[in-house]
Amino acid sequence: MMRMIRVVLSVLALISFAVAQPSPAWTNDPQIESRVEQLLKQMTLDEKVGQLVQYSAGAPTGPGTGRTDYKKLAAQGLLGSLSNITGASDTNAMQKLAVEKSRLHIPLLFGLDVIHGYRTEFPVPLGLSATWDPALVERASRVAAKEASRAGVRWTFSPMVDIARDARWGRIVEGAGEDPYLGSAIAAAYVRGYQGAKLSDPDSIAACSKHFVGYGAAEGGRDYNTAEIPVRLLRQVYLPPFQATVDAGSATFMSAFEALNEVPASANAFTLTQVLRKEWGFKGFVVSDWNSIGELIPQGVANSGEVAAGKALLAGVDMDMESNLYGPNLAALVKSGVVPESVIDESVRRVLRVKFALGLFERPYVEGKAPDGIAPQDLETARQAAEESFVLLKNEGGTLPLKANGKTIALIGPLADDAGQMLGSWSAKGNPKDVVTLRAALTKQVEATQGHVLYAKGTEIMGASDSGFSDAVGAARKSDIVVLALGEDAFWMTGEAGSRAHLDLPGNQQQLLEAIAATGKPVVLVVFSGRPLVLNWAAQHVPAILEAWFPGVQAGPALANVLLGVSSPSGRLTVSFPRAVGQEPLYYNHFNTGRPADRADLSRPPKANDEKFVSRYVDEQNSALYPFGFGLTYSSVSYSPTTVSATTLGAKDLNAGTVKLTVLAEVRNTGTRAADEVVQLYIRQTGTSIVRPVRELKGFRRVTLAPGQSQKVEFTLGREELRFWNIELKNVVEPAQLTVWVAPDSTQGKPAQVTIAP
Ligand code: NOJ
Repeated sequence: MMRMIRVVLSVLALISFAVAQPSPAWTNDPQIESRVEQLLKQMTLDEKVGQLVQYSAGAPTGPGTGRTDYKKLAAQGLLGSLSNITGASDTNAMQKLAVEKSRLHIPLLFGLDVIHGYRTEFPVPLGLSATWDPALVERASRVAAKEASRAGVRWTFSPMVDIARDARWGRIVEGAGEDPYLGSAIAAAYVRGYQGAKLSDPDSIAACSKHFVGYGAAEGGRDYNTAEIPVRLLRQVYLPPFQATVDAGSATFMSAFEALNEVPASANAFTLTQVLRKEWGFKGFVVSDWNSIGELIPQGVANSGEVAAGKALLAGVDMDMESNLYGPNLAALVKSGVVPESVIDESVRRVLRVKFALGLFERPYVEGKAPDGIAPQDLETARQAAEESFVLLKNEGGTLPLKANGKTIALIGPLADDAGQMLGSWSAKGNPKDVVTLRAALTKQVEATQGHVLYAKGTEIMGASDSGFSDAVGAARKSDIVVLALGEDAFWMTGEAGSRAHLDLPGNQQQLLEAIAATGKPVVLVVFSGRPLVLNWAAQHVPAILEAWFPGVQAGPALANVLLGVSSPSGRLTVSFPRAVGQEPLYYNHFNTGRPADRADLSRPPKANDEKFVSRYVDEQNSALYPFGFGLTYSSVSYSPTTVSATTLGAKDLNAGTVKLTVLAEVRNTGTRAADEVVQLYIRQTGTSIVRPVRELKGFRRVTLAPGQSQKVEFTLGREELRFWNIELKNVVEPAQLTVWVAPDSTQGKPAQVTIAP
C-alpha cells in the first residue's frame, strides 16, 4: 500500500513538475531560433524574398495587383502569405503546393480580417470596448480564433489599437476609443484571446497590432489623411496600446497608411525600428497595410516602385501586403547594393519565427471538419458581449425598462429589422442568417407577455423619401410607446473609407424622429452607429436613448433583454459624444488652457468681456453632450469621497518603485435593481515640467451591486501610472500636486489631494 502511495506521489510530482515548466515564449525559444537559422542557410535570395510577399486571393479592399498566379508562386516557394482565402479545402489545396511542391517546403501563412468575429459576429470593436470588460473581449477573440483556425486562417489583421479622438474618422469604430489606458487593457485582451495559451496550439491565431502608428490622428478625420503628432504626444497617447500588445506577445504588426510627421508610417524607421524593435524588443514581423508601400509614390517619398520597396524594407516593413513591389524588386536592390542581404535575412527570420511558433511546419493543414454554424456557448458569449456594450445615455422618468405586459409597442426605423447591418463594418464570414434582429426578438418576448409589437420601417438609412412616414406615425399613434431604431449604415458610413463630415442621423431619419415624437407618445431611441453621433435634438426631446453600436449576431435578443429589463444596461462610453461636429477632435483627456471657461455660462453666447475672452465657442458649449466613461443603469449608485493612503509621497521612491498609493472609494447601489457599475480612477498632475491632461484614466473595475449593497473599490497608483514623458523626453514621475478621483465617469467624483514631493 505504502509503495503504491509513493508511486502515485512520484507520478503526481512528475505531473506538477511538467506543469511548473512552461514552454519558452515563442519570442525566446532556442529551438525555434536554431530551426530558423538552419532553414535560412538553405534559402536562395529569391526564396528569401518570397517569404516577404503577400497577395490577396479574394475580394480586394483597395487597388489590387492584378496578380493571380499564386499557385505557381506557392509551388516555386516564392510566396510567404496569402490573404482572403478561407475554408479547409481551399487553404489545404494551396498549402499543399507550398509544402509539397516547393523546394524547401515552407508553409504559407493565411491571413484575414477577423476583426470582431469570424462567423460568430460580436459587437463592433468600439461597442466591445464600451463593455470595459477585457476578460469578455478575450473570450470573444478566443471564439474568433477557434472559428478562424478551423478554416485555415492562422493570422488575423486585428486588433486595431489606434487611439481615435475624432468621431469623423470612420475607423473609430474599429478601435477602443480615445483613451490610452483603457485602449492598452483592451488591446492586450485581444492578443491573449487570439493567441491563446500557446501560439502553437492549433486553435491559436497570430494577432496583428495595427495600424502602426498614428493612423487615428488623420487630419480632419478624413481616412488615409496625414497625421502630425508631436513625439511626446505619440509616446504618451498613441504608442502605449501598441506597446501593450508587444508585452502581451503579439506576433505581428501592420504599418499604417498615413504620413506621420512627414514620414509615411510604412517607411518610418523611427517608429518601425527605433521604437518597435530597439526600445520594445518586438520579435515578430511587420506587414505593410494594403498597398501602403506602393502609396509611398503618391505620398511623394519615392518616384518608383523600386525605391518605395527599398525605403519600406530598410525602415522595417518585413512583408509587402499587396503592393507587388517586394517580389519584383528586392533581389535587384540587393544586387545593386541598395539593400544589404543581411536586412532581407533579418526580415525572413522574423517571418519564419512566427511560422515556426504557430506550428505550421508540424501542422500545415486544417485537420478535421469544421462544424457549420455557431456553437450555443459562443452565441451566449455574443449575447453577453452585446448586452454589456449598450450604453444608456438618457432615461427620463424611468421610461426604460419597457413595461410591456399587455401593451402595444411601435417598433419603427430602418435598423429594426436589418440583419446584415447588425454584423457591422468587418464581418469576415458573418452571415445575416445567423442574426436575430430587434424586431424578431422584441416581438417574441413582448408577445410572451400578451403585448404587441407594431412594426413600420419608416424610411431607409440614407432615405430621402417620406413615403413611409405616415405608416410609421400611424403605428406610433396606435401604440403605448415607441421604440425607434435609427442610425448609420455600417458598410458605407463606418469603418475604412467611412469618414463623415456630418455626424447627424443620416438621410431623413431626423425628420422621421421628429414626426414620431410629435405624436406625443413616449419614444425610446435606439441608436446604431459606429461612432458618436450628434444627438442634441433627441437629448432634448426624447425621454430615453440607448446607444447600441452594431451589436452582432445576437443584436435582437440582447437589445430585447435590456429594453425589457431582463438585464440592466452596463456599458460606458469610450469616446466623447459631441454637441456639434465643430468640437471635433473632442476628448476628455485634453490639456487645460490659460483661460479655462469654467466660470462662464457656456449655454448662451457671451454677454460681457469676462465671459468672452476665455477658451470657448461663442455658439456652443465646450463639454461633450455625453462624456467619456458615461453610461446609466436602471439603478443609481452613489460614490463616497475619494480617500488615499498617504497625502505625501516621494517622486524618488515612486521612480524606484518602492512606494505605491492606495486610492479608495465606497460605491453603493442606492436603487432598487441590481447593477453593474464601472468604477473609474482618474488623476491630474499639476506643477509639472509640461502641461498634463485635466484628467487621465488610470484604473477601472466592473463591480456588480445588489440593491442596497455597497463595496469599497480600491486601486493602486505607482510608477507605471504616474510617470509621463517629461520636458526632457524622459519617462519619469515628477514632483507634482496630484488630484485623484474615483468616479462614475470622466466628469464626476469627489477628489483627494496628494503631494508628490521630490
Ligand atoms: C486595409 C486596412 O487598412 C487594414 O486594416 C486591413 O487589415 C487590410 N486592408 C487588409 O484587408
